[in-house]
Amino acid sequence: MVWCSGAKLAAAAANAGALGLIGAGSMKPELLIEHIRKCRQLTQHPFGVNIPLIRGDVAKLIEATLSEGVRIVFTSAGNPALHIDQFKAAGVTVVHVIASVKHALKAQSVGVDAVVAEGFEAGGHNGVDEITTFCLIPQVADAVTIPVIAAGGIADGRGMAAALVLGADAVQVGTRFAATTESSAHANYKQAITQAGDTATVLTLKSLTPVRLIKNDFALQTLAAERAGATPDQIRELLGTKRERRGIFEGDVAEGELEAGQIAGMVKEIISAEEVVRQMVKEYQLAVQRLRGDEWPVGR
Ligand SMILES: Cc1cc2nc3c(=O)[nH]c(=O)nc-3n(C[C@H](O)[C@H](O)[C@H](O)COP(=O)(O)O)c2cc1C
Repeated sequence: MVWCSGAKLAAAAANAGALGLIGAGSMKPELLIEHIRKCRQLTQHPFGVNIPLIRGDVAKLIEATLSEGVRIVFTSAGNPALHIDQFKAAGVTVVHVIASVKHALKAQSVGVDAVVAEGFEAGGHNGVDEITTFCLIPQVADAVTIPVIAAGGIADGRGMAAALVLGADAVQVGTRFAATTESSAHANYKQAITQAGDTATVLTLKSLTPVRLIKNDFALQTLAAERAGATPDQIRELLGTKRERRGIFEGDVAEGELEAGQIAGMVKEIISAEEVVRQMVKEYQLAVQRLRGDEWPVGR
């Protein structure tokens, strides 16, 4: 996650038994190298790097990732076909983020090892078709033979169990980890997540790339402009530059972009990544017991 997932969060997640990812989307290649090296000092466990393929300097980010020996890469926002040969030649496991069956099949056909299927409940940039996680996961799971990682709206063990019931092999969790102690986001942003209710987010900037944000002044301005028929160029001008940095990293909760998912309403406190994973596993076990009927009295 941009501005959240540096070495500290990736290593904390890895140490807790999850697969931590460093979010290269908000890093220059030199900074990415620093974070990869620091992450290695903080954990003995595997971790990966998320690379948004839309980045102008994507070749340099890939080079930095490979030269530092990272062998797990999650790609998003772009076409993995353009880079798959380079990744495979380096022995990298490649996971691509998709938001429709069509794109899942395409990713599989070019040779990615797994897909993250992300519903539009998710925080941050979204697919254009607005498919919910609940509808997307079973359809993608039925369509592909590679593993499916469910994302969007999962922040506790019940959500994890539900995703697995729907056919996912694993889950990717964003918003819940964005508001952990190890997230490098600003305290104001983390607090905005913990104060959010179920209706606190909105999908906006649909004429550019849809993004789910907490409904602050900036998000409401973009919505109003879109409703008033603003052109993509006008929206681009309104967006300006560095909005994500301003909101998530610098803590401008009124005028910055506060990327967060609908599940923010369930995130009530800022806890460690280890605690998130511990709670999720416990809740998952309880959810599975409930599905098995173990918690019901005999005869019911
Ligand atoms: C603050 C923030 C930044 C994100 N940045 C990225 C990113 O750089 N690359 C990416 O593939 N996904 C990004 N995401 C999406 C997450 O990786 C994840 O798929 C999503 O948050 C899952 O949905 P959830 O927020 O409901 O847990 C971001 C999400 C958030 C909340």
